[in-house]
Amino acid sequence: MQAFTYQSGKLFAEGVSVDDLALRYGTPLYVYSKNHLRDRYRAIASAMADVKPMICYSVKANSNIAIIKTLVQEGAGFDIVSGGELFRVLRAGAEANRIVFAGVGKTREEIEYALKEQIAFFTCESEPEAARISECAKHLGVKGRIAFRMNPDVDPKTHKYISTGKKENKFGLDLARTLQAYELAAGLPNIEIAGLHMHIGSQILSAEPFGEALEKVKDFCKTLKAKYPTFRHLDIGGGLGINYKPDQKALDPKVYAAALLPTLKELGLQVWLEPGRSIVGNAGILVCRVQYVKDSHFKKFIVVDAAMNDLIRPALYQAHHEILPVTATDKTVTGDLVGPICESGDFLAQDRELPDVKQGDLVVALSAGAYGFSMSSNYNSRPRAAEVMVDGTRATPIRQRETWEDIVRGESL
Ligand SMILES: Cc1ncc(COP(=O)(O)O)c(C=O)c1O
Repeated sequence: MQAFTYQSGKLFAEGVSVDDLALRYGTPLYVYSKNHLRDRYRAIASAMADVKPMICYSVKANSNIAIIKTLVQEGAGFDIVSGGELFRVLRAGAEANRIVFAGVGKTREEIEYALKEQIAFFTCESEPEAARISECAKHLGVKGRIAFRMNPDVDPKTHKYISTGKKENKFGLDLARTLQAYELAAGLPNIEIAGLHMHIGSQILSAEPFGEALEKVKDFCKTLKAKYPTFRHLDIGGGLGINYKPDQKALDPKVYAAALLPTLKELGLQVWLEPGRSIVGNAGILVCRVQYVKDSHFKKFIVVDAAMNDLIRPALYQAHHEILPVTATDKTVTGDLVGPICESGDFLAQDRELPDVKQGDLVVALSAGAYGFSMSSNYNSRPRAAEVMVDGTRATPIRQRETWEDIVRGESL
């Protein structure tokens, strides 16, 4: 579904006017479409239905518990990377046996928490991590289920900061090393070999790198399946790209599925997926209000009340977010849309054709649902934005705007 559309010249989120939301909840404001979330989850589930995958929403993309709960209700599992994310998904009602725990730096405390909650398995990034999981499991008198993260060394053709499956990346182990790691782990007293994991990167717009990566691990999976009777799971990660620009084509889950299903069926393992961005990315916008329009003779700056602390993707990855006015206009200007933070990198759009807006007008950054709020911070002591979920004509606040008191909470003089 198209979640954000103009109706009589005004931008709407599903059936609610964005103008009204900004008046009710203030700005900067994240607005999410519940039906878009559901649609995207269902599109992946239906495309991959032949292998009955466990679709583990990648919580880092957007970790608001209302978003998680919406996906719990759809039957999702969850890909987490910290004790904090485990706490969130359990709070939102997720079942532990649908949770996988990734990340290169799991602490003892996090591992024990996950073992006590009996998550499905850890995606394990190194031999010392397997040893630590075994020690923690022994301490608790249980087994720690693991799937080593294999780095298939394929180029996902995405931004280098979100490419994770090449040999120079910090994630996972290469093929030769993974085989040794399984042998070592199988000898540990409290480890159960559950499966294999890979995740080659994010915002991938073609199915080829996924197919290439799967081809690279196929025979290896067969070997492991024959060797370890408990080896039953293949987690192929997330990474499906979305359209950030009008002329960009999102990776269609059906195209993704067509490239992978024959091999996945042949392997006969329980398939796990970890999509984040493709579910929530285009379900969210960031609404901001113009504070000043500054014409420096050299350049035009539209200064809004949202900044890089609210949406860091443009500064961090040179990411593109479409900027739309809340009241439609055909008039445009060329310039930068910037925030109030004291950094030249604080922009939401740079050297772009922007709507010709004036002080007090509202503009939105599209495609801000993934890695938007979840990467936000209090830099420059700015309270983090409020979040609202829209379902049809109903809007529900799902996170209050932070206050200055919130910012100093926990500090002492
Ligand atoms: C291990 C793992 N799985 C899944 C994801 C989600 O990726 P995406 O949001 O591109 O689907 C990430 C993102 O960094 C990841 O590191």
